[in-house]
Amino acid sequence: MQGEESRERTEVLITADQIRAKVAQLGRRITLDYQHRPLTLVAILKGATVFVADLMRHIDLPLELDFMALSSYGPSTRSSGIVRIIKDLDRSVEGRHVLIVEDIVDTGLTLNYLFGHLKARGPASVRICTLLDKPQRRQVAVPLHYKGFEIPDDFVVGYGLDYDERYRNLPDVCRLVRMAEA
Ligand code: IMP
Repeated sequence: MQGEESRERTEVLITADQIRAKVAQLGRRITLDYQHRPLTLVAILKGATVFVADLMRHIDLPLELDFMALSSYGPSTRSSGIVRIIKDLDRSVEGRHVLIVEDIVDTGLTLNYLFGHLKARGPASVRICTLLDKPQRRQVAVPLHYKGFEIPDDFVVGYGLDYDERYRNLPDVCRLVRMAEA
């Protein structure tokens, strides 16, 4: 629990050790797949910051790191599928191999938009690497080339993921349990 007034608690779902091993394995695969290719990691703010910081140190290749921040249009907190770019890339990805680094794929609407959007900028390729995948909630199919863990339809926090901007600093991925459920 974080904060004395929390109405929820956290339960570890994936430990920091399990994450460490998986991230190292993903980094090794990416290293093999992108030999001699100009690679740009595009991490999605803010959730993917912790993941990309660890992942990039397991990729033994020259690479560029860039960030995008996105938000859904509309009053709903759930994805509407229409995405607004809050922060765009600093550099062009034309001719480069783009690897989108995301924390979690839920409905798939955000990544579906971003995948198409980045493809239109003339990169050599676009692939997706996500730490977490919630397949039960998918509304649109997105190609997940690199994936850490499939998880059930729980709301999770930690290792970069937040609930109302809290819990990003937890080292494990945790289920958020509301006190009424607990
Ligand atoms: P999608 O467009 O529904 O796939 O939305 C993905 C985005 O929703 C992620 O990048 C997260 O910011 C957020 N999200 C989805 N599920 C969770 C969760 O369990 N915990 C925290 N954020 C989540």
